[in-house]
Amino acid sequence: MKFFVDTADVDEIRELADTGLLDGVTTNPSLILKSCRNIMEVTKEICGLTDGPVSAEVTAMNYDGMMSEAAVLAEIADNVCIKLPLTMDGLKACKALATQGHQTNVTLCFSATQALMAAKAGATYISPFIGRLDDMGIDGMELIEDIRTIYDNYDYDTQILAASIRTVNHVKDSAIAGADVATIPPSTLKALVKHP
Ligand code: E4P
Repeated sequence: MKFFVDTADVDEIRELADTGLLDGVTTNPSLILKSCRNIMEVTKEICGLTDGPVSAEVTAMNYDGMMSEAAVLAEIADNVCIKLPLTMDGLKACKALATQGHQTNVTLCFSATQALMAAKAGATYISPFIGRLDDMGIDGMELIEDIRTIYDNYDYDTQILAASIRTVNHVKDSAIAGADVATIPPSTLKALVKHP
């Protein structure tokens, strides 16, 4: 299983990258805001800390806006992965960017049919939001299991990136359910090796 860290805090990323156990990074607009830094500048620095993919998210809601933002983000570094919302416009942008050879992360996935659509759009990663589903009383792990079954049924290459992870058990259960990757907040990632 691959581990991404879900943060825009460069000190945390550097510390985790130094372990050799980090496979990539995901950011989102809230995390960038929390870092108090410019998205271009902080994303460039993060891309230099890992060889793995660094998800940088578009904020536009329409296809043209997403494509313009993606063009700018993709220029930052070769390991930028364009993060797009799971809307019809986001899927259209995903298809276009995948055709151009870019890595894509389709985010805000809450159902198996949404994940199926993302795979059809050629997404590199699909991000089901485990914690937010749990908040609504819906079992996020069932969603991972369903996506795993669907992707295996049709040999889709899209990787399941368990997101909105809040606990060590979310990581364990995602691994059991067959997620390819988990993106984990720094404190939870460190807690994976905690002794009682
Ligand atoms: C990952 O790519 C997402 O941005 C992140 O996991 C969202 O998590 P949250 O539900 O804690 O905002």
